[in-house]
This record gives sequence, structure tokens and C-alpha cells, in this order.
Amino acid sequence: MLATPKADVLAASERYWNPSKTRFWTDAGTPLVIGERAGYLLHDLDGNTLVDVHLNGGTYNLGHRNPEVVATLVAALAHLDIGNHHFAALGRAALSEALVTSGPIPDGKVTFGVGGGEAVDLALKSARYATGRLKIVSAIGAFHGHTGLAVAAGNDRYADRFLAGRPDEFIRVPFNDLDAMAAALAGGDVAAVLLETIPATSGFVMPEPGYLAAVAKLCAAAGTLYIADEVQTGLGRTGELWGITKHGVTPDILVTGKGLSGGIYPVSATILGPAAAGWLEEDGFAHISTFGGSDLGCVVGLRTLEITRRPATRDRVDTLIRTFAEGLTAIAADNPDWLVEIRQDGLVIGLRFDHPQGARFVSRRLYEHGIWAIFSALDPRVLQFKPGLLLSDELAADLLERTATAVRLAHQDALSGVELAPDRAESRAMMARPRAAGGPS
Ligand SMILES: Cc1ncc(COP(=O)(O)O)c(C=O)c1O
Repeated sequence: MLATPKADVLAASERYWNPSKTRFWTDAGTPLVIGERAGYLLHDLDGNTLVDVHLNGGTYNLGHRNPEVVATLVAALAHLDIGNHHFAALGRAALSEALVTSGPIPDGKVTFGVGGGEAVDLALKSARYATGRLKIVSAIGAFHGHTGLAVAAGNDRYADRFLAGRPDEFIRVPFNDLDAMAAALAGGDVAAVLLETIPATSGFVMPEPGYLAAVAKLCAAAGTLYIADEVQTGLGRTGELWGITKHGVTPDILVTGKGLSGGIYPVSATILGPAAAGWLEEDGFAHISTFGGSDLGCVVGLRTLEITRRPATRDRVDTLIRTFAEGLTAIAADNPDWLVEIRQDGLVIGLRFDHPQGARFVSRRLYEHGIWAIFSALDPRVLQFKPGLLLSDELAADLLERTATAVRLAHQDALSGVELAPDRAESRAMMARPRAAGGPS
């Protein structure tokens, strides 16, 4: 299918697409150019096959080109296109009903987008509408997307270059610090607290027991809306459909994206509780997205949700959670001075290594051993390890075996002072640590 040699693709990408990003991956020793892809396997243009445990943050929860999702899209293409965003449509009605009845906000309404950032922007706009307040509180090291409001609520690393960072009304507090949250909400002038249920880009920092529930309580007392960003933690990845329900929290707004698309057709959704959804009663034209909740995207989203909610999928996930907990614990036991922490909630897994750039060494060795896993951009000690929800036992065992080898070799690399990459600007920018105090620990 793709006959162009990999070197030509890399050269054209450096010339016409994104020079520093292309160079960064080449320097890092992981210059992946994906050709064929199916299930949890990626075929690099240079002929190597890799197991994908990055999954673009959960976009490919159900695998690449999941046959049922593909068949749904192909069948829909015989009749549908993007549709007209102004009118009621079969797919939009069905997917919004399916999302609301899936439970995170029982009396909610749904507004659709194309990506997660757009859905977060809409969540923040709706919270401002509902409260008449401007201020937004988020966590230091957070990642909510790169659209206007979402990027302002995230880490400076992604905002400053575009002069998009931090108007005064965006306030950040350390994750897991309840006192700081209480202080930020004390003035009764905050529209919303926006939190990833498990902050991903800062290395899957696990919420301390009771933290999210306590934040929700503070929000309720302050008249502030709680927005759960479930773009990475939703859709079955923690073992429950929505990660936030494990914390006993009914958010005022919930955002989902990535995996809802089945990795096939972009769609994201913002589920709005009654207060935040008020504008939909007053002026449904107040927010418009031509491609958001397209007819095709909704059909695909419905199928994805249906597969995710099947008891068989849930059983598979439960089995995999145990398999990876046991397997990774064994690998940690064999590398006690190196793999020093396993952060796991379901199939959200972060592996922390005892070196400031530890996960970069591991990512490179994994790539050599046929696994693609990314390090956390805001804490490169932590490898993001996100196995697919439908992974077979055989592939899971194979994955663990290769991971054990790569982890051991990466330790030797780190000890022997092997260079990670030439000291270039893009490498330094990519690895910038969060500036503010209280970043990932
Ligand atoms: C937690 C979280 N929220 C929001 C987003 C933004 O999603 P998108 O890239 O689709 O705009 C991301 C993307 O990685 C994310 O991880």
C-alpha cells in the first residue's frame, strides 16, 4: 500500500511538515512511520512490527481498525455523510442518549465536538455561562488539549510560545493538594474546577484516596462546577466505563474524546449537567461546530460505546488488569533500583524509573524490541503503558516478556551514560520540566 521508502517520508516531513518533531523522534531512536496497522500491531515502514501500548492515549482502546467499527463506518458510508449540524439527526440523538444513560451524569445533555480540546473548551464555556464567573482552576502539569481555553488551563510549556498562556482568570494548584484547592475556591468566584481523573501527561499521577470526592464537595459548597476530563480515563480503561465513578463523584460536566472515535472517525462529547446545559434551552445556536457530532462520527461513536460496554469486553479488561499487575510487579522485583514505582488504575499504567529521563531509555529499548510506548512529556521518568482493552492473553504475555528485556537493557544504558539524543533545541523543548513548583512527583 505505502511504497515510499521510510527515509523519503522522514525527509519530506522534515522539509514540509514539522521539522523539529521529525528530528526529535529520529534523534530519540524511535522514528516510527506507520504503514499497515491492525488490532494492536503497527507495521513500521522499515519492516518492523510493533505492539502499540501508546494507543494515542486510548484512541485505539479497541484496536487499530477494529473490524466491527470499520464495518459500521463502511455500512454508514452507503447512506450518510457529515450531515447538517443544525438539525436533529438519528446518530446524534442515539449517541447522546447512549452517553447520558451510560450514567456519569444521569440528567445530562450532550454537545458534540471533533476533538478533546474543543470539548474541554465547551465545558469551560458552559461552566462560565452557568455561574456567571470567569475563573477556572486546574492542576499544575495538566493537559486538556491545545484549543483556546483548554491550552490556557494546561501546562505553560504548550501555551507560552503562542502567547496563549495564562490570563489571570486561570489558576493552577498542585494535584492532590486539597488545602491549595480549598484556598483557590475560598473566594466563591470560581466557575469551574477542571481535572483529569488521572493526569496523563504528567505521568499518570494517581489521585490520593478521597481527593477527587473532596474536591467535588468543595466545588458544591463554593457554587463551582466540577469538570471531569475523561478523555484518557473514560471508556473502560480503568475497568469502569467512566473513571470518575470509581471516586464516587457525579461531575457537573464530563468530557470524552479519543477512544469514542474508535480510532476511525473523529468525534468527542461534552456531557453537561442541568446547570451547565441551561444555554441549550435558551439558545441552541450559541455554540456551533460544523463537524462536531457528524452523522458518521455518531454512528461510529455508538458502535464504539456498545463494544466497550459489552460484558465480554469488561471480562477481558478485568483479566488484563490482573495479568499486567502481576507481570509488571515481577519486572519491578527484578529491577528494584530501576523500576521504582508502578502507577496502575485498571489499564491506565505508568512505570516510573529512577532517572530523570528514565522512560526515554526504556521507550527506545522497547522500540528495538517491537513495542511502541511513549514517555510522559511532562515527566520523562514515567513511561505510559496503556495496553488495549481487547488484547489477547498471548499478546499480553509476549508484551510482558519483551518489556522485561527492554527494561533491563535500558537500565544498563542509563548506568553506562549512553547519550539519549544530540543536544538540540527540540530535544530541550520537549523535555522542559514544569516550571511551577508542585509538579509531578
Ligand atoms: C486528558 C486529555 N484531555 C484533552 C485532550 C485533548 O484532546 P485532543 O487532542 O483530541 O484535542 C487530551 C489529548 O491528549 C488529553 O489527554
